[in-house]
Amino acid sequence: MKILVTGGAGYIGSITVRELVKQKYDVVVLDSLESGNREAVDPEAKLEVCDLKDEKAVTKVFDKYNPDAVIDFAAYLAVGESMEDPEKYLQNNVVNFVNLLDIMTEKKCKYIIKSSTAATYGNPLDEKKDIPLKEEYLEDYKPEKSCLLSGEWNGRETEGENFLQMFLDRYIEIFPKRPELKLAEDEITKLRIPTSIYGITKLLDEILMRKYDELHEIKSIALRYFNVCGADPSGEIGEAKPKATTLMSVAIDQILGKVKIVNILGRDYPTPDGTGIRDYIHPCDLAIGHLDALEYLIENNKSDAFNLGTGKGSSVLEVIDAVERASKKKVKTADAPRRNGDPVLSIADPSKAGKVLNWKAKYNLTDMAETAWKWHSSHPNGYVNFKLQETRYKQ
Ligand SMILES: NC(=O)c1ccc[n+]([C@@H]2O[C@H](COP(=O)([O-])OP(=O)(O)OC[C@H]3O[C@@H](n4cnc5c(N)ncnc54)[C@H](O)[C@@H]3O)[C@@H](O)[C@H]2O)c1
Repeated sequence: MKILVTGGAGYIGSITVRELVKQKYDVVVLDSLESGNREAVDPEAKLEVCDLKDEKAVTKVFDKYNPDAVIDFAAYLAVGESMEDPEKYLQNNVVNFVNLLDIMTEKKCKYIIKSSTAATYGNPLDEKKDIPLKEEYLEDYKPEKSCLLSGEWNGRETEGENFLQMFLDRYIEIFPKRPELKLAEDEITKLRIPTSIYGITKLLDEILMRKYDELHEIKSIALRYFNVCGADPSGEIGEAKPKATTLMSVAIDQILGKVKIVNILGRDYPTPDGTGIRDYIHPCDLAIGHLDALEYLIENNKSDAFNLGTGKGSSVLEVIDAVERASKKKVKTADAPRRNGDPVLSIADPSKAGKVLNWKAKYNLTDMAETAWKWHSSHPNGYVNFKLQETRYKQ
């Protein structure tokens, strides 16, 4: 089978491409290289450098390769940035995604696996009842007002329902002649759940995939990843973002001297050690999850959404401890106040993916820290001056 992987030169995409190649899929990567790296792309895969906003170029890629299915990783994903520049996220994560779905429709490419995120769940209403988070949470919870935190719309501070309405007005303005993309009342209610514009764009993509299923029979699976960390065990590919934002990467960057101190944002949470708890998942487990989802989709021809997490929570202090054990070095930390809007707990219920896709995470927090340390300590500047892959790379 021929698989088009958008964003396949990025962190999770490149690791998934490696797994696809290993399992003998014919892989084409489409990536703008805005945050991805040529060197991260497996040499057995083809690379087309192009942006999803460029309809003509993307159509050409479809004409050239005629893919059977798409795995879509291409998006922006910085939660904080999405609150300061919502238009940027609306354009790349939604408008460009509609371009992709339109081209798939035109070219009769019927299957898509899509990166989604735990950010679609916002902050669980009742931690005792809602954690671990099940996929149905998004169907069952019907807030009357948007849970969006404070952010900026055209430089003006705004939050909640107002912020959501401005976002939706802009969405409608972008697609004036596309009545089929209009959102129904229950879809708008659902979009009230996320606390960030990033989360909203990803949930809107899930809603759009359902529409394209009803309209054009494009079958899709949304995979809602929890907190991703770790690198390929080979130490050859891993996360290479210009600025680390996830806890494990920041802790490693502190050891590598790129960050002065790691702020522990709140020690007064109602958890055993007082710090926030998250469900951490390794990208190699995600890669297998994508392959399982693809097989399932093609066999069953049925759209769906699944959580990908371990189902186990780790605290901030446990993550730092895992990094210290992996690196055999001390992480410098400082206590800081809680960050507005951070939930106490975020843990997936991955049982649906277990039952339906026969998927289960294999890597634990120690594995994540060891693989991440191996990658970052051998590539402190990411792919810069990374000769090994360059020489292996054919194109
Ligand atoms: N990393 C995480 O912790 C995490 C958690 C949950 C969900 N996700 C989702 O997983 C996906 C991949 O995340 P990642 O961490 O690998 O990010 P990344 O930035 O490393 O990879 C994204 C890739 O997409 C490419 N891209 C972006 N916009 C594009 C466009 N318009 N056209 C072509 N290419 C484009 C970038 O160049 C990059 O290579 C994203 O959709 C993200 O929302 C990530």
